[in-house]
Amino acid sequence: MIVIGGSASMDLAKELASILNCKFIPALTTSFPDGECYTRIDEEKLEDDVIIVQNTFPDSKLIEMLLLQDAAVKLGAKSITLVIPYFGYARQDKVFKPGEPESAKIMCRLLDQVCDRVITVDIHKEAVLDNFTHAHKDVKAAPIIAEYFKSKDIDIVMSPDIGAAGRAKIVGDCMGLPYDHLNKTRLSGTEVRIQPATADVRGKNVLIVDDMISTGGTIIAATAALKEAGALKVYVACTHGVFVNNALERFNGSPVDSVLCCNTLNNAVSLISVANSVADAIRSAYAGKW
Ligand code: R5P
Repeated sequence: MIVIGGSASMDLAKELASILNCKFIPALTTSFPDGECYTRIDEEKLEDDVIIVQNTFPDSKLIEMLLLQDAAVKLGAKSITLVIPYFGYARQDKVFKPGEPESAKIMCRLLDQVCDRVITVDIHKEAVLDNFTHAHKDVKAAPIIAEYFKSKDIDIVMSPDIGAAGRAKIVGDCMGLPYDHLNKTRLSGTEVRIQPATADVRGKNVLIVDDMISTGGTIIAATAALKEAGALKVYVACTHGVFVNNALERFNGSPVDSVLCCNTLNNAVSLISVANSVADAIRSAYAGKW
């Protein structure tokens, strides 16, 4: 088995190769003068099972992933597994308004062309993966987050909206803690309104879990609502820290006591590693279990 690290996911790819005890090859990726992507796998042959690890966000990284697949095929890869820690366009999973595309489905079709299987991490809606014709698995970060926070002084786990309530339940169950959800209404791309939870959070330390932080609007509003309801400390853990337009800076001086993310995207707070769970998914795939 050989792990190829794409430029968006190099650190995670390296960690995976070390856990799987296999060869790691960093893709050599630059840009042509006109901005088009140039990438190369600097090997004579691959002739092995190949794992390509690469986010498909931002758009240039999606192109790199497509090019890396072709390069791997041409070098004789026996099989290709795509590990896409953060799957771009997953949130546009349906036509919300007439005239819109089903972006997530299109991305699956593009990525599906030559690979043998796909592994994602906490894709926004798992049903999106059914657009792949090949085997697919979504690795869940909730148990990893629960393990990370196990020794911390948390009283209740909360999700910012009902959509993420299942995640709060898994984390709560793993930690042996109660869980609840807030109610979110999205007002614009950057603003949300949060209504209080049913649970009494007075004097409690709360852990908010979500699949992603983009502008930070959801988490900051959710934290403000919890503090207003009397919560003592509010910790935040999300899988994908996208942090658009330096959103991480919005957390300085916000009511959030601490924010941490998984290492599906690289940033200053992506300290929770999903590598072991992704490695388990790869091992079980090659053991013929899925
Ligand atoms: C929404 O359904 C997602 O789970 C996140 O809550 C959302 O994408 C976060 O976005 P933002 O940080 O911009 O509020």
